[in-house]
Amino acid sequence: MKLRLLLSLFFLPCASLVSAQNFEQRIDSVMRLMTLDEKIGQMNQFNGFWNATGPVPAEGNSLERYEILRKGGVGSVLNVQGVKEVRALQKIAVEQTRLGIPLIFGCDVIHGYKTLTPIPLAEAASWDLQAIEKSARNGATEASAAGINWTFAPMVDISRDPRWGRVMEGAGEDPYLGARIATARVRGFQGDDLSAPNTIAACAKHFAGYGYVQAGRDYHHTDFSAYTLYNNILPPFKAAQEAGVATFMNAFTAYNGVPASADSFLMRQILKKDWAFKGMVVSDWGSIQEMMAHGYAASLQEAAELAALAGCDMDMESMAYVRHLADAVRQKRVPEARVNEAVRRILRLKFALGLFDDPYRYCDEEREATTIGSATLHKDALEMAKKSMVLLENKGILPLQLNEDVVLLGALANDRTAPLGNWRVSADNGTAIPLTTGLQAYFPDLRWAGGPVAWSGIEAFHAPIQVNETDTTGWAGAMALALSAKTAIVALGEHGYQSGEGRSRASIHLPGLQEAFLRALVQQHPRVVLVLFAGRPLIIPDDIRTKLGALLLAWQPGTHAGDAVAAVLLGDHNPSGRLPMTFPRHEGQIPMAYNDYTGGRPGPSKEVFWSQYNDLPNSPVYPFGYGLSYSTFTYSVPKLQQLPNGKVVLSVEITNTSQVAGTETVQLYAKLPASKHGISPGRQLLDFQQLPLAAGATKKVVFMLTPGSLAHFDAQGQKHLAKGKVTAWLVPNSADVANSLTFVID
Ligand code: NOJ
Repeated sequence: MKLRLLLSLFFLPCASLVSAQNFEQRIDSVMRLMTLDEKIGQMNQFNGFWNATGPVPAEGNSLERYEILRKGGVGSVLNVQGVKEVRALQKIAVEQTRLGIPLIFGCDVIHGYKTLTPIPLAEAASWDLQAIEKSARNGATEASAAGINWTFAPMVDISRDPRWGRVMEGAGEDPYLGARIATARVRGFQGDDLSAPNTIAACAKHFAGYGYVQAGRDYHHTDFSAYTLYNNILPPFKAAQEAGVATFMNAFTAYNGVPASADSFLMRQILKKDWAFKGMVVSDWGSIQEMMAHGYAASLQEAAELAALAGCDMDMESMAYVRHLADAVRQKRVPEARVNEAVRRILRLKFALGLFDDPYRYCDEEREATTIGSATLHKDALEMAKKSMVLLENKGILPLQLNEDVVLLGALANDRTAPLGNWRVSADNGTAIPLTTGLQAYFPDLRWAGGPVAWSGIEAFHAPIQVNETDTTGWAGAMALALSAKTAIVALGEHGYQSGEGRSRASIHLPGLQEAFLRALVQQHPRVVLVLFAGRPLIIPDDIRTKLGALLLAWQPGTHAGDAVAAVLLGDHNPSGRLPMTFPRHEGQIPMAYNDYTGGRPGPSKEVFWSQYNDLPNSPVYPFGYGLSYSTFTYSVPKLQQLPNGKVVLSVEITNTSQVAGTETVQLYAKLPASKHGISPGRQLLDFQQLPLAAGATKKVVFMLTPGSLAHFDAQGQKHLAKGKVTAWLVPNSADVANSLTFVID
């Protein structure tokens, strides 16, 4: 009787119809009923008992965890998949706990749920914000049909280090592009109404600085300045917050000697105070207890207190809050007001998701059956895959002709798993369309050979990939097949599980025997088309690269790998992707980004005493923003108009001088004026526009710069507008030095 009364108190009118004000009153009414332990229970998140995306926790066996759940000791679970399982756990929360508060179900829906789109770095290469938003929307549609209502995405970490495997999960090296993509992805996941059954809460992660792990080694220490924090790391987080992101996640790393999960400067000062963020902050997996390994907390109890005090609202898989926070409050080491604030934020999200109106809102078996793997999701995933590919080399070989004498080689020629990418908690191995199938649609009698195998062993999120370094079986046969054809397409690269979490690489060359095989091939064959599958920028040494007939960067394209690659190779899709990350010549250049600060002696120069290597150019192989097309575009001399209100209008005319329709991405970079508030990069991206152009057509692109777009932060986080001489470039990539103009801001 009592339980029913309590439930009827919560399950009031539909969340979408009630105002935020109303949420607060309803939260008050729930919180008045809660004991301290129940409040702390809301701050606890458990893994769903079987599908781990982190080290399997030492603390607490499944039975104990179910017991904790029944006592109201869990606010959210992650990694539970499918309506049946979600419903079963929700039922325990709703029917067997004293207050019946529903759980939130979190999951890493990073590049799709079951129908996989390209990895986020690849999607970023499309520079197509609408398509990226739609892709996130589709991920939300599919995941929510499986009972999920919270994704741990977007990852908005800026990184300049392709050795770090997690670059695959972000939008690359540029804070401006990263911010635009963060906005698009948050909108995509969350839509306009979080309580709609097909939208899910997003999570901006990892707050902050995880992308700066030293030497690109995952989970390693970070050391960056406040200047870097404000100018490079925070902008995409701020954009996500402005787009209304529901949650933030801490980083595993430390800033200024403080682990992110204990950093009140980041969480309380910047996020919750300066940015007035009303959502909730979740720790990363075990990051509260990892404060002990960091050498910051002496015990789990201390770690729990430090994290709670610093503003971390929910503990993912440390068992820290549920074990220790109640004592800390009773002994007055953590004010109950802090717990109340955290719980309010968590309940606010539950109300916003509509879970108090219907805890089974995301548990519709019929929708699950009709939505997951729907034709629309597949169609959109294919489109996104095509848009994400970047043509890096083409000596007139591509697009291929339908009657061309081609063969297909390489370890990835017929692989149905490697191209799926890394973060696919829910998609099955073997579900990617392989390149063999894609090409057979154009060449029904396609001859192909895999050549030496690239890897063996278990292909799973938690298992290391076993790279083949020695077994050359298949080499000779593949080489003979290549030499029998006019054009050899060779599909090589990384397995999806060679990038992503815990997948750092010290060498970013083609893994295993692949580089040697490719070298031998280009030495003998004049028309080699390399299709490169990768989760990060890779290095193809110059002696190989310069002999390639064409190089198409396919990334890890997801479910529609093979058909997307084939459509691009055959010209059914004119490539329009542009690199969101610099491709270095050598690992020794890393960290590296187009918007590096130049230093006081910018090289290269013929003399010594300038910033340069003795044994390598400073420049990358392919710069940020770079990518070719089957069309050719010319740029007119750019024009400038300064308006009295401080705005600056820049324009340029682009002509498609080729016979085929194509899309150009016009990029606006600038060098800011000298400022005593801090140095500025050699150039930085200020804006971009994508321009579809019919064959022979000319269009004008107009950019409007406001004083705000020419600002930067000082090391205290104060924003300063530019004053003085600005140089701007309207160009096809970040290394292009043509088309500059200058203006002065008073
Ligand atoms: C750890 C990762 O760092 C984080 O990004 C992810 O969301 C969680 N594990 C949950 O899987």
